[in-house]
Amino acid sequence: MKKIIIGFYIFLMPSFVNAAPTAEVLHWWTSGGEAKALQVLKDDFAKAGGVWKDMPVAGGGGDAAMQTLKARIVANDAPAAAQIKGPTIQEYDDEGVVAPYNVDAVAKKEGWDKLLSKQVASHMKCANGKSYCAAPVNIHRIDWFWANKKVLDSNGIKMPKSWAEFNNAADKLQAKGIIPLAHGSQPWQDATVFEAVALGVGGNSFYKKAFVDLDPGTLNGSTMVKVFDQMRKLKGYTDAGSPGRDWNVATGMVMEGKAAFQIMGDWAKGEFAAAGKKPNVDYMCSPTPSKNGYLYNVDSFIFYKNAGNDKVEGQKLLASLMMGKNFQRVFNEYKGSIPARLDVSMDTFDLCAKKSNADLKNAGKKGGLLPSFAHGMALRGAQKGAIQDVVTKHFNSDMSSKDAAKQLASAVKASL
Ligand code: BGC
Repeated sequence: MKKIIIGFYIFLMPSFVNAAPTAEVLHWWTSGGEAKALQVLKDDFAKAGGVWKDMPVAGGGGDAAMQTLKARIVANDAPAAAQIKGPTIQEYDDEGVVAPYNVDAVAKKEGWDKLLSKQVASHMKCANGKSYCAAPVNIHRIDWFWANKKVLDSNGIKMPKSWAEFNNAADKLQAKGIIPLAHGSQPWQDATVFEAVALGVGGNSFYKKAFVDLDPGTLNGSTMVKVFDQMRKLKGYTDAGSPGRDWNVATGMVMEGKAAFQIMGDWAKGEFAAAGKKPNVDYMCSPTPSKNGYLYNVDSFIFYKNAGNDKVEGQKLLASLMMGKNFQRVFNEYKGSIPARLDVSMDTFDLCAKKSNADLKNAGKKGGLLPSFAHGMALRGAQKGAIQDVVTKHFNSDMSSKDAAKQLASAVKASL
């Protein structure tokens, strides 16, 4: 009997020694729809034997999360994984704190280069594009109108096809005492609306010149003045409670019919879905007016250097699960986005997601597929911050459009 027990003990030893894959995950997905989507990953991780340590930092758009993350990195206390995106990924790589080896091994084994578009894959790579250091979970679109169907129908309003049409609809609604635009005036939300307006009013190449190339003449040009003019109009369509309001509270206003429209990325759809609302029944979705434009925003997780086999295994497991085919379907149905993987069928997605997927392909062909600057896909932190500051200062004061364009160019210059 003793021998058997000793034998049994020896047999089990290795699993006691190898602790379970563990990952502390820093993220800002705390709204109803966001939390529901993230739960899919937490569940998958637990099912695979992983131990998830949650590090949520509330605040839409992730500005607060980015500050917390920076402080953790400075204190040499990096989490295993953090929700970050765009050029900030490479910025952290430059600091030497990223762990490309873990996720790259998974990416090579699973053939990520074939599963992702070149554009998405390039955002995920470090070491001059040689190694994957981040894993993508989706593609969000920014330039959307969301609207309450009943409010539109009962006022004879259709989804606007031009900014002039939007302004007319908003004037009509306002005259009837309805809030035309649900908005939360926080810097990132002002920037979100601003980039959709810039894409529509200025066009695709204007957007690229201004917010990808940072061309001074475009930043301080007459088209930019027109963009700020439309922002001033939009400000007039918001209610007095707008400053500081969270984005999901604004979505709630549209849901409840307290306001007609919201301009927001399609994580807003995650809120409608979590509340059991259906497109074309309860709410409407359509891209904000532009010429085949599409502002994309890829949510991804970066992996930092972490000591310990349990943590390295946790990172590998997370990376693999995030790129799972079924995970990308289920997660994105909750999140409001579309899969980053190219081989996931869109059959089970709603009509807004199908539209997003079709428009993305079309925009890609027509030169309109552009990275969102407001959501950190186009610029590094300092330049993004400089633009966002001016946009929100203009929106929340009586600054003239001309002064705003001038300040935009000088703030960007100072940030370089
Ligand atoms: C992220 C979304 C998130 C949204 C609001 C965006 O920057 O990409 O995943 O839902 O911010 O928090």
